[in-house]
Amino acid sequence: MDLLPEISRPFRADDKSFLRIDGKGIWMPLDVHSLAIPDVKLIRTPRFSDARGYFCETFQRADFAARGLDNDFVQDNQSRSDRSGTVRGLHFQRPPFAQTKLVRVLRGRIFDVAVDLRRSSPSFGRHVAVELSSEGDEQLLVPAGFAHGFCTLEPDTVVFYKVDQVYSVENSLMRVLVTGGAGFIGSAVCRRLVLGHGTAVVNIDKLTYAANLRSLDSLAGEPAYAFEHLDICNRAGLDRVFAKYEPDALIHLAAESHVDRSITGPSTFIDTNIVGTYNLLEAARKYYDHLTPERRSRFRFVHVSTDISRMLGSRHMTCQSSSRIVRTITVRTNFQRNSFH
Ligand SMILES: NC(=O)c1ccc[n+]([C@@H]2O[C@H](COP(=O)([O-])OP(=O)(O)OC[C@H]3O[C@@H](n4cnc5c(N)ncnc54)[C@H](O)[C@@H]3O)[C@@H](O)[C@H]2O)c1
Repeated sequence: MDLLPEISRPFRADDKSFLRIDGKGIWMPLDVHSLAIPDVKLIRTPRFSDARGYFCETFQRADFAARGLDNDFVQDNQSRSDRSGTVRGLHFQRPPFAQTKLVRVLRGRIFDVAVDLRRSSPSFGRHVAVELSSEGDEQLLVPAGFAHGFCTLEPDTVVFYKVDQVYSVENSLMRVLVTGGAGFIGSAVCRRLVLGHGTAVVNIDKLTYAANLRSLDSLAGEPAYAFEHLDICNRAGLDRVFAKYEPDALIHLAAESHVDRSITGPSTFIDTNIVGTYNLLEAARKYYDHLTPERRSRFRFVHVSTDISRMLGSRHMTCQSSSRIVRTITVRTNFQRNSFH
């Protein structure tokens, strides 16, 4: 049974666009197209159609290697997303577990994104995006050093990708929500996490009188940093942020911390420090309940506060007491009590 078409081009032994089968030359033009960031490649493998459907070699190591794509793929992954608009990623692994990915869609359609996180690269922080579908014959090659993710554009979408490194939780880019990240302590935490640890941070801040956005200037243009202008008393807004970023941990620092102001206007202290914290815990619990067991076991909610203890009375004034209060809240919401690391 001959699945391949007649050769319409003369065979030359040195021509890498020929696939050699049984000593014969079959024209298999593997089309490798560099995108706006040249290391990201869009690859087309030809389909040979007949009355039954089509045949396609989606990956042939020697043929890829002949085009300089000499990756040693060691694992295949597949995901199915029920709903259109499902976001997966961005996923990233640090060396020595940095991954090259070869992505294609088996069913449905995706908006696929690769973000350059190589600090020495002229395109650091930039991204490329393409639409991939099961109807097309295209695959996206995402090199090591790039974060990768996609959004499904159709329900019941199946995505398949090869990787040249195994999955490593420890070396994945962790995503942390930081509340009050424009404050005195929060801004230092954001800077340390993003610039010092390569952790992705989403800063949620209402930008009250206490905020100082200039303290975050060094994070401008950092692809691993995002800002959400949001009041933690806004429960719907918190649910949206959890769903959008799917964090691995939360560090809660947002607070009304200028206690002298409470003499003339105590209500904002109750709103932010009590109601806001409660909202955050409820939003986190809702999110936590839908995590996989593996992600649940890693999830951390860390609350740093002296303000709650102040509001609960002088006997809770010490740091030790305040951390006990946080643990009490944490235990009630059934989260892990382990410290964040
Ligand atoms: N600064 C210290 O020396 C110190 C020491 C120990 C503990 N703490 C605790 O650490 C936490 C942070 O302290 P800080 O000094 O960075 O505070 P800060 O006042 O400098 O910053 C608080 C941040 O929270 C934001 N914020 C306030 N209300 C908000 C709301 N409703 N929604 C979203 N964002 C809101 C503000 O805009 C601001 O950016 C506080 O709980 C404080 O008690 C601070």
